[in-house]
Amino acid sequence: MSGRLSGRIAFITGAARGQGRSHALRLAEEGADIIAVDICNPIESVPYALATEDDLAETTALVEKLDRRIVATTADVRDKRALSAAFEAGAAELGGVDIVVANAGIAPQQSDEPDRDAVFADVIAVNLTGVFNTVEVARERMIAQGRGGSIVLTSSTAGIKAVGGSSGAGIGYTASKHAVVGLMRQYAVLLAEHRIRVNSVHPTGVSTPMVVGNTALAEALADPSNMGKSISNLLPVELLEPQDISNAVMWLASDESRYVTGVVLPVDAGLTIK
Ligand SMILES: NC(=O)c1ccc[n+]([C@@H]2O[C@H](COP(=O)([O-])OP(=O)(O)OC[C@H]3O[C@@H](n4cnc5c(N)ncnc54)[C@H](O)[C@@H]3O)[C@@H](O)[C@H]2O)c1
Repeated sequence: MSGRLSGRIAFITGAARGQGRSHALRLAEEGADIIAVDICNPIESVPYALATEDDLAETTALVEKLDRRIVATTADVRDKRALSAAFEAGAAELGGVDIVVANAGIAPQQSDEPDRDAVFADVIAVNLTGVFNTVEVARERMIAQGRGGSIVLTSSTAGIKAVGGSSGAGIGYTASKHAVVGLMRQYAVLLAEHRIRVNSVHPTGVSTPMVVGNTALAEALADPSNMGKSISNLLPVELLEPQDISNAVMWLASDESRYVTGVVLPVDAGLTIK
């Protein structure tokens, strides 16, 4: 296979469905083998269903159909020890790691929030500490290999503008996604000497189960006391497709962006310049 990522290995969190699955398939199409991780379990404060074991099995089958190898494990990005074990098993089997995509995240906004403090803490734990854990478990091996690499952190338009809403979940979402930019910049500085690049992607609304069919989020965003701000796109499109984000991730992962590091890359149909 002679794709743009031929011979590379990509570690992707939240890979059971949605954007994470799409990233796995897009990178595999370009020749990458995949280390996939997903929680495949609910989180109490999250009012919509997270992925299942069946979803992760489906990602596995789809990657294998592309003739690529995949090691898929159930692990929570909040649990550094379990995440590290999942990563290490995959890296040992596939031959290391070249690309990290820290994509797992939650958006538990709802109108009647049962416990503002608990939900804030959960969003920070998954969307910020989970991203930190993802880079931490992979970076030493990446450095030791001496073959450079690319790390892509999934933020959001809520990592650029205050569009998460005023609930505990909304404030936590905006704060965590802004904080991902801080992680990205600090790791970009830290890892540059090892030819490891670090960038963040900032999607506007994407057609995934986090949004589609998530009535709790729709109600929270429609509630003027919670939001008060329009988050419509500039280009005439309501929701992007996961592949739109995967194409950006693939470019950041590939040598076509070999001197791009420390960059905030919106894939937002113009939302953040409004
Ligand atoms: N969908 C959107 O409109 C949108 C917009 C901007 C940013 N994002 C971000 O994109 C990323 C992907 O979201 P998506 O749209 O594919 O939604 P999604 O809910 O379909 O996918 C998220 C995946 O992450 C997994 N996950 C959640 N918590 C986890 C944990 N603690 N450990 C391991 N896995 C966990 C879920 O099971 C799920 O498979 C998230 O970081 C999200 O915040 C989404």
